[in-house]
Amino acid sequence: MSTDKVTILDIQQAKDDNRKLTMVTAYDYPFGLLADEAGIDIVLVGDSLGMVVMGLEGTVEVTMEHMIHHIRAVSRGCKNPFIVGDMPFMSYNTSIRDAIINAGRLLKEGGCESIKLEGGVDFAPTVAAIVKAGIPVQGHIGLTPQTAGALGGFKMQGRDAAAAKQILDDARALEDAGVFSMILEAVPAPLGKLVADAVKVPVIGIGAGPDVDGQVLVTHDLIGLFDKFVPKFVKQYATIRKNILDALTEYKAEVREMKFPAPEHSFTMPTESLEELENLLEE
Ligand code: KIV
Repeated sequence: MSTDKVTILDIQQAKDDNRKLTMVTAYDYPFGLLADEAGIDIVLVGDSLGMVVMGLEGTVEVTMEHMIHHIRAVSRGCKNPFIVGDMPFMSYNTSIRDAIINAGRLLKEGGCESIKLEGGVDFAPTVAAIVKAGIPVQGHIGLTPQTAGALGGFKMQGRDAAAAKQILDDARALEDAGVFSMILEAVPAPLGKLVADAVKVPVIGIGAGPDVDGQVLVTHDLIGLFDKFVPKFVKQYATIRKNILDALTEYKAEVREMKFPAPEHSFTMPTESLEELENLLEE
């Protein structure tokens, strides 16, 4: 195995050394390869796949089988980054026993190295039990997409003092439960800093401002492949959707105009074989 493989110890060391962690999502082999080649620290096979790959309205319909299928593909391409598999809605909410069994399935059948689940204080006992079973857990607090409906939609969290205090309590509870890091989504930047300063484990932000220990974005957002809606916290580093659309449109036109395939894209046959074939067909 390559010595560049990112481990939990490296992830903690990054916070201790004040080096920002980089994290992106991937859902298949080519994007796993690309994240690896780019030297990304952590790759999340997120249940956001429901929206950006499967065309669903949210993440609620994503199943264990979907997750395992996609984690397996990413794991084949992604060698050095630390791989996190997302626990889909209702795979850990029903009981602690279900949570441990399903977390184990993501590692054993998917091939990821850790799992992520959404929730704070209320899910601390679940997190502690999974960690005790030997499975590294990443927490996810602030805006939790699986329960966005209960939060009133995809909205910034921690607006007032009471809500901000709850998020701080969630972070502390997750740290006590043994998470190796946590995602903090869609909170005011000052709260992002408060949370990152309050816990020793890395806090990786998505819409939590610059003063956290690292950043995560959905890859399909950052490359401009998914533009159904673009959250405020997304920066588009490319406009890949347009490139792909242009390529497909040009291909269609060239096929219809018989410009493709050109001679360089076609196989040839030795003249004598062609003559022989013509003779055979004439017989
Ligand atoms: O599923 C996902 O992509 C996520 C990120 C938004 C962190 O949970």
